[in-house]
Amino acid sequence: MKKYSVPKNFISSVGNDNLDTYQSLRKSSKEDSDSYWASVAKRIDWFEEWTSINNTDYSKAHIEWFSNGKLNASYNCIDRHIENGLGEKAALIWQSNDPTISKNVSYNELLEKVSLFSNGLKRAGISKGDRVCIYMQMIPEAIVAMLACARIGAVHSVVFGAFSSDALKNRINDSECKLLITQDNGVRGSKFDIPMKENADKIADECPSLKTVVMVERSGNAMFMKEGRDLTWNQFIDGCSSECPAEVMDAEDPLFILYTSGSTGKPKGVMHTTGGYLVYASHTHELVFDYHKDDIYWCTADIGWITGHSYIVYGPLSNAVTQVIFEGVPNYPDFGRFWQIVEQHKVNVFYTAPTALRALMKEGDDWVTKYDLSTLKVLGTVGEPIKSPEWHWYFNVIGNEECPIVDTWWQTETGGILMSPIPGCVPTKPGSATLPLPGIIPAILDEDGNEIEERNTTGYLVMTQSWPGQMRTVYGDHQRFIDTYFSQAPGNYFTGDGAYIDDDGYFWITGRVDDVLNVSGHRIGTAEVEGAIGAASGVAEAAVIGYNHEIKGEGIYAFVTLMTGVEPSDNIEQDILNTVTKIIGPHAKPSVIQFCSGLPKTRSGKIMRRILKKIAQNETDDLGDISTLADPSVIDSLLQK
Ligand code: WT7
Repeated sequence: MKKYSVPKNFISSVGNDNLDTYQSLRKSSKEDSDSYWASVAKRIDWFEEWTSINNTDYSKAHIEWFSNGKLNASYNCIDRHIENGLGEKAALIWQSNDPTISKNVSYNELLEKVSLFSNGLKRAGISKGDRVCIYMQMIPEAIVAMLACARIGAVHSVVFGAFSSDALKNRINDSECKLLITQDNGVRGSKFDIPMKENADKIADECPSLKTVVMVERSGNAMFMKEGRDLTWNQFIDGCSSECPAEVMDAEDPLFILYTSGSTGKPKGVMHTTGGYLVYASHTHELVFDYHKDDIYWCTADIGWITGHSYIVYGPLSNAVTQVIFEGVPNYPDFGRFWQIVEQHKVNVFYTAPTALRALMKEGDDWVTKYDLSTLKVLGTVGEPIKSPEWHWYFNVIGNEECPIVDTWWQTETGGILMSPIPGCVPTKPGSATLPLPGIIPAILDEDGNEIEERNTTGYLVMTQSWPGQMRTVYGDHQRFIDTYFSQAPGNYFTGDGAYIDDDGYFWITGRVDDVLNVSGHRIGTAEVEGAIGAASGVAEAAVIGYNHEIKGEGIYAFVTLMTGVEPSDNIEQDILNTVTKIIGPHAKPSVIQFCSGLPKTRSGKIMRRILKKIAQNETDDLGDISTLADPSVIDSLLQK
């Protein structure tokens, strides 16, 4: 595989010039990990310094960093920049779905908005440790709401705006949120009335902990407002002071909960704490994106995912960035939207998902070349490997061969990027996240937990040591935390991904080794989708498989058996799609539904997914060993698609 050296014209803003810089950082982080992380942690402001750096014990699934340090994340993202004379600097450039509307929010304005809302939260009875749910689209108030929670020590739980009301309800109830912040309607692409408040209304009465619903007036459409429960954003802050001192938080006080899908059961509330998370998000944002104080930065993610938390809110804002936040979608009003925004706002650092690139690439280069993209300096991707065709398109057509591409591997659980080329230092190879960041010590293990020393041999990717941004627990279920991440390979953090190391020592992520799908960079558990399909009437059983999908990376393929006497029909198919949309959200809808008379099972009743995968991928010439099947005749019926 060809290596691409750092583009000639790329000059690092942070002095990362060659591979030696990387190697020496890596060496020092290995030799004295505590000193390395202490020096990194000094980049943020602490009200009181820690008494010790790392008190993690993987054997007990206990993770603790910067013990007894005191700080506040909102203070670090706003106040200290103002104290440093940056009050007038634009923090946010909000680009509306409507191409003609954009609005700047300076750090001074951000402080005022956050303080007002913080005081509103306090007046509504929210205090340190209380959980607050945020169910919004990409509007500045979403970021204000997150930072206001952080300011008073409330724990936010952001629920992606495309999730259904059922999914919202389950998340609110799991962490017993007292207050919900939402908006009247979402506005995205050609949809101007995505039902946000309406979805909240459907379930609010089934959430016993929920006392207050705050609604931003985004579309201006009239909404039902329940007396004593619902307030508009303006009513909520009316009469509040615009000054609110930041609460002194312990490094290990929770900052947020973010739900993510696992291989089994209901979504997990991934919990991150204040000190380690903030240090790690801030540090990696600078290192990986070569962040310079005059850069215009744009991450196209949604705050409903970890990428939005770490690389829109906490990382960039703690570094006093000026960043674009975008309400819309890449294909509205046309396929040139991303590039038009890059030109308009003179974006230097651009961070997006391979699935978006694939979707745009197939529309041709004319959408790109009509815009001036010469401001671009670093191009990033996240969510899945960026494979050769889209890598080259990104590198050649978008970056004009002048911008390093940073393929960033990480997870909701890791809090920040663990593997990525460092621009200026590390030559790239399309499809590889290259090397671990300094301080990150991965290993590849075999089935028995032994390290695989041979090159080019795939195994389980683990982390042998903790890093500050690591999740601390599954909210309300520490046992699940232990079982999911620390039981497969005791003494290591188990990522759930497969990977191998090539002859140059570069890491290649081969995908999930558990039953988790990656659809357009969205993480979806097969068990969740199967459960949702099973709730449709007439369905007996479902098995869900990921198959290679040209744009989405992975598409959802569902094998469904129906109750005796029920015949497959378009109605049932539609009902299944509606049920999945209702229980999870439209992003979890299967692309293919195949009705079948039975599922391939072993004698002990375990579904043989390996066989279904081959059928879904049309690789039916060799189905492999089928001798353990309880009823081999199901195969014939499955093949008659
Ligand atoms: C899973 C984590 C991290 C924010 C977005 C997704 C896959 C993520 C890459 C990459 C190969 C990747 C992994 C991982 N993944 N980035 N650069 N190369 N795979 O966060 O929803 O927690 O999903 O996404 O399989 O385990 P997430």
